[in-house]
Amino acid sequence: MKKKLPMAKKWKIVLLIAVFSLSACPRKPSPLPDHPGGKLFHGDIRLDVKCHGCHGWLGEGGQSGKPLVQLGRTIAHDKFINAVLRGRGGMPAFNTVLNENDVRQIIDWLEKIPQ
Ligand code: HEC
Repeated sequence: MKKKLPMAKKWKIVLLIAVFSLSACPRKPSPLPDHPGGKLFHGDIRLDVKCHGCHGWLGEGGQSGKPLVQLGRTIAHDKFINAVLRGRGGMPAFNTVLNENDVRQIIDWLEKIPQ
């Protein structure tokens, strides 16, 4: 009996960790929460624009999308803007919902995220 107790404790801890990670909110706080670029990226301004679903919460790359930031920099801004507005490969075109200025805001936010 005495030997079984620590084992039960172990399972309790495992269970607690599991419950905690399941109940944890999947939305992390946005860095620079007032930046309009971040709000666009996370679908807070336009529900149909959710870059993070494919590119990761901070543009680090994810499900299907490439990483958008490396060492705190994005790819060349004109390339970035063209890819977003015209679409490319698995990436939908956003020219009906975003304009160049919106995309510049997103770039600005991505480059200001503390590394
Ligand atoms: C449905 C998934 C999806 C969504 C949503 C999405 N992307 Fe993409 N994105 C991709 C994929 C896949 C690629 C790679 C396309 C290729 O090169 O074939 C890509 C490529 C890019 C590129 C070019 C990267 C490079 O290195 O050339 C940029 C910039 C980009 N996305 C930005 C954005 C932004 C900003 C948004 C939100 C407005 C967004 N994406 C939304 C899937 C997505």
